[in-house]
Amino acid sequence: MEKLAIKLCLTKDIGVNGNLFGGNMLAWLDESAATWACSVCKNPNMVTVKIDELVFERPVKIGEQVIIFGVVRRVGKSSLTVYIEARKKDFYSGEEQKVCSTIFTFVRVDGNGRSIAIDDSVRDEYKHLN
Ligand SMILES: CC(C)(COP(=O)(O)OP(=O)(O)OC[C@H]1O[C@@H](n2cnc3c(N)ncnc32)[C@H](O)[C@@H]1OP(=O)(O)O)[C@@H](O)C(=O)NCCC(=O)NCCS
Repeated sequence: MEKLAIKLCLTKDIGVNGNLFGGNMLAWLDESAATWACSVCKNPNMVTVKIDELVFERPVKIGEQVIIFGVVRRVGKSSLTVYIEARKKDFYSGEEQKVCSTIFTFVRVDGNGRSIAIDDSVRDEYKHLN
């Protein structure tokens, strides 16, 4: 898996129960995945069309680092599907524990917000997946 981002859980990120607020995690995942989708597809006009189910498997606490990873699953005509996984990593031991994962689908759009084809060069690069 490719490493997309490293985040630090700060006081401002915490919800009422002392854990990282779920909406903040979702924003981290969406930003990381969307930025990476633009990079993979070699253009900045990728919009999120779908986020699959996501289970928060363990809490993240203040001062913990979260690393976000991604793998390309499929390149369609105009869509890109990626698996995204967040893990927290212990600063001392380096041990990683999965926090959550999901699958994002992005679509390349034109200036009017309509879907347009991803470059053939990208599809060629990932043709082994289809
Ligand atoms: C993304 C959007 C342009 C797609 O419009 P659309 O009319 O469904 O477009 P199309 O029918 O041409 O489909 C485009 C692609 O999206 C895929 N798609 C559409 N709806 C989907 C869904 N619910 N789940 C998975 N893929 C979907 C299609 O399979 C197609 O993929 P392909 O070209 O690789 O075969 C439109 O839904 C949209 O603007 N959504 C809002 C995006 C947004 O604001 N996101 C949040 C902020 S980034």
